[in-house]
Amino acid sequence: MNTQLARDLGLEFPIFAFTHCRDVAAAVSKAGGLGVLGVAGHSAKNLAMELEWIEHEVGGKPFGVDLLLPAKFVGSERGGLERDELDEKIPAGHRRFVDDLLDQYEVPPLPADVKVTPEFSVGYEQQREVIELVFQHPISLIASALGPPPKWMIDEGRARGVKVAALAGTVEHARRHVEAGVDIIVAQGTEAGGHTGSVSTMVLVPEVVDAVDPIPVLAAGGIGNGRQVTAALALGAQGVWAGSVWLTTEEAETHPVVKEKFLRATSSDTVRSRSLTGKPARQLRSAWTDAWDDPSNPDPLPMPLQPRLVREAQTRISRTAHKSPGAAQLSNYFVGQIVGSMNHVKSVRSVVEELVQEYADTMERLDDWAG
Ligand SMILES: Cc1cc2nc3c(=O)[nH]c(=O)nc-3n(C[C@H](O)[C@H](O)[C@H](O)COP(=O)(O)O)c2cc1C
Repeated sequence: MNTQLARDLGLEFPIFAFTHCRDVAAAVSKAGGLGVLGVAGHSAKNLAMELEWIEHEVGGKPFGVDLLLPAKFVGSERGGLERDELDEKIPAGHRRFVDDLLDQYEVPPLPADVKVTPEFSVGYEQQREVIELVFQHPISLIASALGPPPKWMIDEGRARGVKVAALAGTVEHARRHVEAGVDIIVAQGTEAGGHTGSVSTMVLVPEVVDAVDPIPVLAAGGIGNGRQVTAALALGAQGVWAGSVWLTTEEAETHPVVKEKFLRATSSDTVRSRSLTGKPARQLRSAWTDAWDDPSNPDPLPMPLQPRLVREAQTRISRTAHKSPGAAQLSNYFVGQIVGSMNHVKSVRSVVEELVQEYADTMERLDDWAG
């Protein structure tokens, strides 16, 4: 499974793991892949602790970070709006709809000692402190989603020998990232969990590989077993970038109610919905996504108004889902179509080992078939 990109990064296997959980990131790096910590939503102080922990855990093995750096959002022409400006733009009818939905499902109030999780920052400048901080740590890769990274981030990466990657859902995105100067394209098909476009991995990966050659491409979206890894490399990718498959591992901090739902879900149980972030993101279908999809209800607002609108409701749902059947019905999270194959809780190391073993078996089978 060795590729040039794996050699350049000092990896045993070209398996890249996107995760918001530091334990998963560290475990993947220790198992021979590259753990990438999603830092959206982290404060600089909290992030410093997480990165120090990973650094200590992996003992010199490579790891990376990923940021949400959207090109377009409400207030992007000014680099982002202040929280009170965002609040003024949220219609009262939307606030009422969210309150009524929680009442309808009898979601208990937030316990007094629980703080509402703040929504993530979106502007380049608003995230400058975080970006400067991550470069203080021995990362091997920094990735950006939803838009090309700013020039100063690419320059900083180059100066420090850190590879800069960017996620692309279309060939046009990939070309734009290459023009901006990135080192690696992550071609992410619509099957993927999280923000995703409408083109499938099978179609997108070879298109992007051809369009950006010789820039290396990682295949993302719908990769959860070794046959899919083999297919990704056959399509011309130099590795795989997986996010969903880690969510049901022992190490993942996935909400227990949601983890159970993932274990039972089929590959038809996800939807692309704007209801959590304001941009289309694949997630488990639940009473929450159904309510926002109902044409008689308000449409989700654009980023970052929607995350600002729903942050308190989402905190209430997740903090009470273990005891409130209504909150459990509304509960969901980002996940890709591969959720249909995520039926057992495993350790991160065993997921990596199974990907590698099934890749080897598949290559052997193809060799046999070739006679
Ligand atoms: C729970 C979850 C959260 C995600 N959040 C981000 C994110 O903050 N930044 C990002 O670049 N990609 C994010 N993604 C997308 C992943 O980076 C990756 O491209 C995707 O998970 C690959 O497809 P898969 O889910 O089929 O493995 C997220 C994916 C999931 C499942």
